[in-house]
Amino acid sequence: MLDFLDNLKRTHYCGELRGKDEGRDAIVMGWVARRRDLGNLLFLDIRDRTGIVQVVFNKEAHPAAHAKAEQARSEFVVAVEGKVIKRQKANPELASGEIEMVAAKLHILNNAKTPPFPIEDEINAAEETRLRFRYLDLRRPKPHQNLALRHKIILEIRKVMDEMGFLEVETPMLTRSTPEGARDFLVPSRIHHGQFYALPQSPQIFKQILMIAGLDKYFQIVKCFRDEDLRADRQLEFTQLDLEMSFPRQEDVFQVIENVMLRACAVAGIKAEAPFPHMLYKEAVRKYGSDKPDMRFGMELHEVTHCFPVEAKTKLQIEGHVFAFAAPGAAGYSRKQLDELAEKAKSLHARGTYFVKVAPEGLTSTVEKLIGAENVKKLADACGAKPGDLVIAVSAKEQIKGTEAAALIAGQLRLQLGETLGVIDKSQWKFLWLTGFPLFEWSESDKTWVSAQHPFTGIVDEDLEKLESAPWEVRSKGYDLVLNGNELGSGSIRIHRQDIQERLFKALGLSEEQLRRRFGFFLDALTYGTPPHGGIALGIDRMVMLLAGEKSIREVIAFAKTTAAQDLMADSPSPVDKDQLDQLGIAIKPEVKKAAE
Ligand code: AMO
Repeated sequence: MLDFLDNLKRTHYCGELRGKDEGRDAIVMGWVARRRDLGNLLFLDIRDRTGIVQVVFNKEAHPAAHAKAEQARSEFVVAVEGKVIKRQKANPELASGEIEMVAAKLHILNNAKTPPFPIEDEINAAEETRLRFRYLDLRRPKPHQNLALRHKIILEIRKVMDEMGFLEVETPMLTRSTPEGARDFLVPSRIHHGQFYALPQSPQIFKQILMIAGLDKYFQIVKCFRDEDLRADRQLEFTQLDLEMSFPRQEDVFQVIENVMLRACAVAGIKAEAPFPHMLYKEAVRKYGSDKPDMRFGMELHEVTHCFPVEAKTKLQIEGHVFAFAAPGAAGYSRKQLDELAEKAKSLHARGTYFVKVAPEGLTSTVEKLIGAENVKKLADACGAKPGDLVIAVSAKEQIKGTEAAALIAGQLRLQLGETLGVIDKSQWKFLWLTGFPLFEWSESDKTWVSAQHPFTGIVDEDLEKLESAPWEVRSKGYDLVLNGNELGSGSIRIHRQDIQERLFKALGLSEEQLRRRFGFFLDALTYGTPPHGGIALGIDRMVMLLAGEKSIREVIAFAKTTAAQDLMADSPSPVDKDQLDQLGIAIKPEVKKAAE
């Protein structure tokens, strides 16, 4: 028989009871986390959002409560009336460990099936099981803390944005395509058969229109939708802190974000320093082989092509540049470990990987015969290698997005070795502004120039004249915010003149008809007095993930999707009834239907 809640009112949260509450009458409510039956004494650990309190049921003092406690099982929902007493032996593992409750009455409010995994922090359940039973997973302390931190960070962001004079304005979720480089999620219209809304990849166009509308400083904590392949730091729907301001210099946007980040870090108990350093994109690639360099450790890359004589280059089929770095203390790496590194480089499309071991007794190298002892020394010196170091050099053929592939591959190896050699100081919080991006990237698949960020990114004034004649040389007014090797945000000073925006669309290969159809309303809006403006968007999920010390954004999202893009708990995506499809004027192709069966 289950009890009713009736008029029973909770007086305390379990995890908040302390020594100072000794002698108080208390009513707590929550879930049975653990039950230990010692005969005359029975212990229930009761859990709620705040933590756990131990409750004692004494058969002699309160036989009815004790009898009831014998029926309680893990995850039953209960209310306990009792008194707070000092424990004979405090439990330092529990925040409430100084005290316990002696139960006078137990109300069993609901029972529960045995959960598929224990509700505690250290579990080894598969992530799929955790996501399928997310309501149980979220009962664990760590996910609770993550969601609480997320709430506090977002609250603080809203506060600081308000203090700086920004207005939060909502923009539509049912809209038209907003180009951010991903595929759109489309929503069919019931009223206009054959027509579709798109869910926003970002509020980019709307926030720019808000600047035309004179809002001056806009922000929004906003859901964005992108149909792209999922990874640890990507979801189909995610949350941005999106902002835009009128008449800004780049430094003004940076200052706003630095304020936001310092305050968000403080909420997480992290001390960061501003202003954040700046780096040019080219330098980041050359020195770190990345457009989001992790600055918590050195192991910088060096271009060492000059250490490879012409004959060696021909033999090794080296066409592009060779990039190398020294891995501290890795000279003792075994043949197998070197092979694994070379294999990894190969999987990233390296042509070759060459090693120099800097032992106290001298240098040894896998390419000594080909390049000679002198060049081996030159190579080690160029990387500043010290005795005990391993020098790793990488060559590759192609460029990736116009960048030396060898540098990017060496950058990946740098990250991997930085992690395995334990040289990354995990207590540091290294923010970095990246600027000087090229405006365009060459798309091999589409054989055309595409925007490196999005097509509203401003163009460096003196490069404007090259927009049509030498697009590869045009620099953008874009910037990225990087934290500990993760891209946290991205933004730009925008194009605010209609004539330039139109030229840019044309440089991207859009015909007059296409640009009118897709962006006509925006091009028109630009002609009605558009102020210079700029902004940025930060990934809130990534921010909370990093500040919470998690490795995946799924840990800081209440109901995340799997990497196969499914919500296992609600079982979506899922088929819909024929009626619903009929109302939308949609028919599923027979071959698709068959494949799904
Ligand atoms: P961008 O596309 O770079 O810029 O996105 C900004 C930030 O949003 C986060 N982010 C994601 N987080 C989780 N899952 C995803 N699939 C995902 N995609 C992006 C990242 C990223 O840095 N409109 C521009 C901003 C601007 O120009 O103002 C934009 O959306 O942290």
